Amino acid sequence: MTHKLLTNSLALALAALCLDSCTPKASTSPAIAKDKDVEAQVDKLLSKMSLDEKIGQMCEITIDVITDMSVADSFALNEEALSNVIEKYKVGSILNVPKGVAQTPAVWSKLIRRLNQMSADAQSGVAQIYGVDQIHGASYTWGATLYPQEIGQAASFNRAIPFRVSEVAAYESRACLIPWVYSPVMDLGRNPLWSRMWESYGEDVYLNVEMARQAVLGYQGDDPNHIDGQHVAACIKHFMAYGVARTGKDRTPSSITRRELREKFFQPFRAAIEAGALSLMVNSGVNDGMPFHANAELLTTWLKDELNWDGMIVTDWADINNLCTRDHIAATKKDAIELAINAGIDMSMVPYEVEFCDLLRELVDEGRVKMSRIDDAVRRVLRLKVRLGLHDKKTWDFEPAQLAAAFPKFGSMEFADEATKIAEECIALLKNDTLAGKTEKVLPLKEGTRLLVCGPNANNLRGQNGGWSYTWQGERTNSLAPQMGDYPTFEDALTLRFGPANVRYVEGVRWSDDNFDRDEATDISAAVAAARQVDVVIACLGENSYCETVGNIDDLSLSPNQLQLVKALATTGKPIVLVLAEGRPRIIKDIEPLCAAVVHTFLPSNYGGPALARLLAGDANFSARMPYTYPKHPAALVTYDFKPCENMGQMAGNYNYDAVMDVQWPFGHGLSYTTFEYANLQVDKSEFTAKDSLVFSVDVKNTGDRVGKEAVLLFARDVVATLTPDNARLRAFDKIELKPGEQKTVRLAIAAKDLAFVGSDVRWRLEEGEFLMSCGGQNLTIKCTETKVWDEPNI
Ligand code: BGC
Repeated sequence: MTHKLLTNSLALALAALCLDSCTPKASTSPAIAKDKDVEAQVDKLLSKMSLDEKIGQMCEITIDVITDMSVADSFALNEEALSNVIEKYKVGSILNVPKGVAQTPAVWSKLIRRLNQMSADAQSGVAQIYGVDQIHGASYTWGATLYPQEIGQAASFNRAIPFRVSEVAAYESRACLIPWVYSPVMDLGRNPLWSRMWESYGEDVYLNVEMARQAVLGYQGDDPNHIDGQHVAACIKHFMAYGVARTGKDRTPSSITRRELREKFFQPFRAAIEAGALSLMVNSGVNDGMPFHANAELLTTWLKDELNWDGMIVTDWADINNLCTRDHIAATKKDAIELAINAGIDMSMVPYEVEFCDLLRELVDEGRVKMSRIDDAVRRVLRLKVRLGLHDKKTWDFEPAQLAAAFPKFGSMEFADEATKIAEECIALLKNDTLAGKTEKVLPLKEGTRLLVCGPNANNLRGQNGGWSYTWQGERTNSLAPQMGDYPTFEDALTLRFGPANVRYVEGVRWSDDNFDRDEATDISAAVAAARQVDVVIACLGENSYCETVGNIDDLSLSPNQLQLVKALATTGKPIVLVLAEGRPRIIKDIEPLCAAVVHTFLPSNYGGPALARLLAGDANFSARMPYTYPKHPAALVTYDFKPCENMGQMAGNYNYDAVMDVQWPFGHGLSYTTFEYANLQVDKSEFTAKDSLVFSVDVKNTGDRVGKEAVLLFARDVVATLTPDNARLRAFDKIELKPGEQKTVRLAIAAKDLAFVGSDVRWRLEEGEFLMSCGGQNLTIKCTETKVWDEPNI
């Protein structure tokens, strides 16, 4: 009976979701409004709970703690540990993938149903919430659809892509009964050394704001108070400024001013919260000496008070303990808990020790953590569970077969085809030279072109997918993915497209098994010999998969063996197409001039092979753009919103005071097989004040002979300001498709206050004076006629 009910409601919801559409529309932002029924249910649950039950709700434990490790080949629960965690300690949340590797929907759903049943009996009817890192699709689920990682999604400059990726990830997670995902990441990826660059939407504030908002809507749907059976709660992370550690190493210190935090790093979080994000995870790092997990100003004042946000804050892995054991701002673990909970943490991802509960209980008994703080935290945890409907058995009481019937599109060809189209839009053409003595460019490749495909990423689904793919480090993708589906690698897909007779494969350089950043030259001379027999060389280089601290590096350069491979191939005089698959921009300045074309696939995932083949063959057109500045030199790491003094010609006079910026490719760079001409940039008012909105328009024409998509980007520069202004800031974008000869007028609206910056007093200000606006090489100047300084922290 219940099964029938679910199937019917699912059918309706599915129809409403338009899961059939391959080009979904970006949704509009809802805000979280208080819902009387939700609050009443939270109050009712809270009123029945003992202090121990409340504390249990604030504790999150990893699945390893309740796993029977003596069972080698499959997953089984350790009944004694389970009873201790759920029945004795009343723990309200479990996280992580069993046995560290993707599980089938059947294993997932049996596990989660069991936990829910136990909690319903043992915890005054309060539900469990299970959290999983489903990162680029349902990446810890066997057979789910994997999409390009966030960095590639950002490169698409297409809002519909993060929306759709998250929507399907939610659907495929819910097919496992997983209700909560630790995604999306909206830390600005501004230090290219950072091992999590690829998990972010890149360096720009506005691009992160827009993409993160869409991801939240895709995960959660339109009503954050009532998440339906095909959606999940998003956990936006990691609050904040994780991607700018001074050394680039994971979880190491940064020194960002509150001014810059407010103006840049906070904005994607604010936008995601305003879009309804129900939970947030804190950055493991330390800023200006203060670990984020103990920062009451940021956690309580900025997030909860100023935004009037009633969502839930969870720590990252073991980060309360880290306040004591790593950061030394607390003498004991108990002191650390006091600091973090009083700063505003609602749930601790402990993740191994239920001792957290005992220590927190002591702190309450001693009056060091007030009951009002406990009630506030628990209320937030319960609210999340109620909003997800987890107290209603109808959301989780199912047999695997019932779920399989209710989620017929799980792992479907329909999702796969869509993922290929999405991957096509997430791959950028960065260089495409005209061949010597000819008029045509090296790409697209003509039918019948003879190819040598080589390099360590030519046949490496691991390198295509990156981390958070079936395992944390993604190191088993090459053996696991082929068991789940037909996922042609770059080389497989090029062979299918150009025919086996035309494609030769020589590896040249191979990844080592023991370290993601190590490789060995296997047969470079064989690759050179093979290159002499073909027309074009496709060199697939970059990085192997890694995640978090494991991915720390000391040198941003591409590995010596890979550089040597290209140098050796170049001696043949054959045109080289460099195909990059890498999570961060490894320095390639020595080989870039040797390559006739460069394609950046970012981390395109399982459908990257077919997408690349279609793009190289010209069956599809490129339309992605760089979501970060690709550096040319290892010690010259900059972002596009640099300050004027970072890039200027020589000053007049005797001294050589100059600074010249020399990057490989700037933010926003990306080529197409067609050409676009911009004309007629206009604005509806050339003078404005803070309360105005401004509508820009520009004519964009496809002047080439192929259909193409174009990301139209509008940048602004404050000409003179009381703090030296950024060189440029992206303020609006849209993506359009044009047939050959077709022209469209693109309208880009911004609020005048979007041009404001945060001054030294950490207040937003829009200053009188000129702003230079630019779009596709067109410029115009607009003028603010009145300075405005806001008292409100958020405008
Ligand atoms: C990562 C988070 C992740 C969490 C749970 C941490 O190590 O920093 O991004 O969500 O683990 O797996």
